[in-house]
Amino acid sequence: MSGHTDMVLVDDDGIRIDGRKADEHRRVHIEAGVLNNADGSAYVEMGKNKVLAAVYGPRECHPRHLQDPTKAIIQCKYNMEAFSVSDRKRPGPDRRSVEISKITAEALEKVVLTELYPRASIDVYIEILQANAGTRCAGLTAASVALADAGIPMRDIIPAIAAGKADGHVLLDLNKEEDNYGQADVPLAIIPSTDEIVLLQMDGDMTREEFDHAVDLAFGACHELYDIQKEALKKRYSAVKGGDEDE
Ligand code: CDP
Repeated sequence: MSGHTDMVLVDDDGIRIDGRKADEHRRVHIEAGVLNNADGSAYVEMGKNKVLAAVYGPRECHPRHLQDPTKAIIQCKYNMEAFSVSDRKRPGPDRRSVEISKITAEALEKVVLTELYPRASIDVYIEILQANAGTRCAGLTAASVALADAGIPMRDIIPAIAAGKADGHVLLDLNKEEDNYGQADVPLAIIPSTDEIVLLQMDGDMTREEFDHAVDLAFGACHELYDIQKEALKKRYSAVKGGDEDE
């Protein structure tokens, strides 16, 4: 998010470097139930982002001192593979992945009926296989489909997408160049049935009007993503019912 580049990120016709208009998100593909050995799983592509989410549980919480006698805890691990970015990412947790794991778990706690499973843990693993900006949103989108695929009772599923500002334009779903050289990035996640915000961050600078516009764009796109998430779960459910589930 340097805000400076010689690269033209939005041309005179308002078209971005990947051919999108300001209010267009990248192509989204979601598949539920892609891993046999997890209780629930999902694979998400958002443009060039490729993300796998796996869910285990509810199961006994370890270490035991983390147990909550009133509800389950959600333990989330967001991890970027070493090969997911152009400069090899040093394996293992860093400040960024600890932060993203925390905000993802906090968003998911708003929809999972954790009170049904005292002392348990619900473990969510998010693996970024390929990154191109917006991975925390793609990860959260994948994790909520994986939780639903695991059959864990939830109030709703969470879609997430970012909007931001690059070359002075408010843009939906920034790609890597727009994120790196743009002026602001605003990831948003909502509970679509109530429009409650469960994740909102901001990196960079925008005016109040630009911020409101970015949030509006992201809200609209979250509702579109929500339909794609539900379609993926319906497809998975009809495959299981039809007996063509992978063994
Ligand atoms: O991925 P997201 O936009 O949620 O988070 P970010 O911290 O704003 O990172 C933006 C992008 O920078 C990532 O999606 C990666 O493409 C890239 N990045 C990288 O190349 N190397 C890192 N160690 C971290 C991020």
